Amino acid sequence: MNLTDPNLLKRHAYIDGNWQRSNSTFPVVNPATNELIADVSDLSEVEAEAAVIAAHIALPNWSAKSASERSKLLNKWFQLMMLHQNDLAILLTSEQGKPLAEAKGEIAYGAGYIEWFAEEAKRVYGDTIPAPSNDKRIVVIKQPVGVVTAITPWNFPNAMIARKAAAALAAGCTFVVRPASQTPLSALAMAELAERAGIPPGVFNVIVGTDAQGIGKVLTQHKLVAKFTFTGSTPVGKKLLAQCAARVKKVSMELGGNAPFIVFDDADIDAAVDGVIASKYRNAGQTCVCTNRIFVQHSVLKTFAFKLAAAVDKLNLGNGLNENVDIGPLINEQAAHDVHSLVTESVQAGATVVLGGTAPVDNFYKPTILSNVTNEMAIAQNEIFGPVSALIGFQTEQEVIELANATEFGLAAYFYSRDIGRVWRVSEALEYGMVGINEGIISNPAAPFGGIKQSGFGREGSKYGLEDYLNIKYLCMGALNN
Ligand code: SIN
Repeated sequence: MNLTDPNLLKRHAYIDGNWQRSNSTFPVVNPATNELIADVSDLSEVEAEAAVIAAHIALPNWSAKSASERSKLLNKWFQLMMLHQNDLAILLTSEQGKPLAEAKGEIAYGAGYIEWFAEEAKRVYGDTIPAPSNDKRIVVIKQPVGVVTAITPWNFPNAMIARKAAAALAAGCTFVVRPASQTPLSALAMAELAERAGIPPGVFNVIVGTDAQGIGKVLTQHKLVAKFTFTGSTPVGKKLLAQCAARVKKVSMELGGNAPFIVFDDADIDAAVDGVIASKYRNAGQTCVCTNRIFVQHSVLKTFAFKLAAAVDKLNLGNGLNENVDIGPLINEQAAHDVHSLVTESVQAGATVVLGGTAPVDNFYKPTILSNVTNEMAIAQNEIFGPVSALIGFQTEQEVIELANATEFGLAAYFYSRDIGRVWRVSEALEYGMVGINEGIISNPAAPFGGIKQSGFGREGSKYGLEDYLNIKYLCMGALNN
């Protein structure tokens, strides 16, 4: 791999400021070529516990730093990430597959959370509340929750860590993360840059290993852990949540989605097509906020399908490290197979292939459009996690709101309309944590990212993102009249 700074390619865990090796290793491969990128130390629950203990020991000094000191260190980390944006993007594309331009975007997106929370660190305000009697005062202060542990996914190997770690560190917490074993290199490069930024040993730790269950048990159940945060699928999230219950940990969960994308007949159709390209085909459809079901009002369905097919047909599939590639591979062969199974099942159930739909080649899945899909089909009820648009026709506003809400998920929703009354009605009726209105890209550090229903709870980014890492303490000051 051709990095300007080859020292950013790390192969061992980062615990208490040391690079921790193991004799056993696991391979990290490029999903575009299936070639080996690096053999990475395969650590276990023993080292996971060591990381938690290191974070516990580092906690008093880190939380005692002034908000301004923590802010300066975070800001330095942000600057180093931006300085090394190209190298970090090459690492990310190599292990995850997304096109290089998207990977650069992810580095800026992740770094943006660090910059944002460097500022928010200085705005952890408390409160005073009028007391029920004159001899008392009620004061509310906020304190860091303590040691935070995290498990993060392979689809955003940098940004999903950045937005949790930045908020935790800004609040005065210390942090241990287990990145997905498909994509540990981005996390380890972040640790290298955290060290260069001067973030003290034990404050930011990365445990790498394939023993998801053993490491997960430590991160969710260790008595020194105060809070656990997870981004990933709903079934795995439920198991981790149950594990956290044993010691009543503070938890936040960013789980799966099944985003509706509604195109009303008064919409700007070209803008809606651009919105689908952005929200459906970003990261080859492997995001939790991806459009999953595209509802189009019957009177504009034909025009919309035609324009969407023309736009999707222009997307280039290939190795993300090459020029002019818009869609990279899926993370592995199983993922490509699963997407194709959903497509073939839908076709057997009556859906029509407008574009693509062919069997995967290695990990690559051709951008696909299906029409005549119904909300009951498996493709409309499961996260597709691939570059497939499923078009469903509808007649009325009321009907589409019911269809859009007929899912156990509640992460993101999108709709396109130019009628101001409808914009308010539909925004309020959609049972989702985030709604894009005439907009396909809704994620940014200033906004509260998160879902409702079985998409989880807690928010990441924005002023709300810090609250998840803070305890509220109420001080009752009495006998003030003596
Ligand atoms: C996700 O897929 O969970 C994250 C997507 C985003 O941050 O936009």
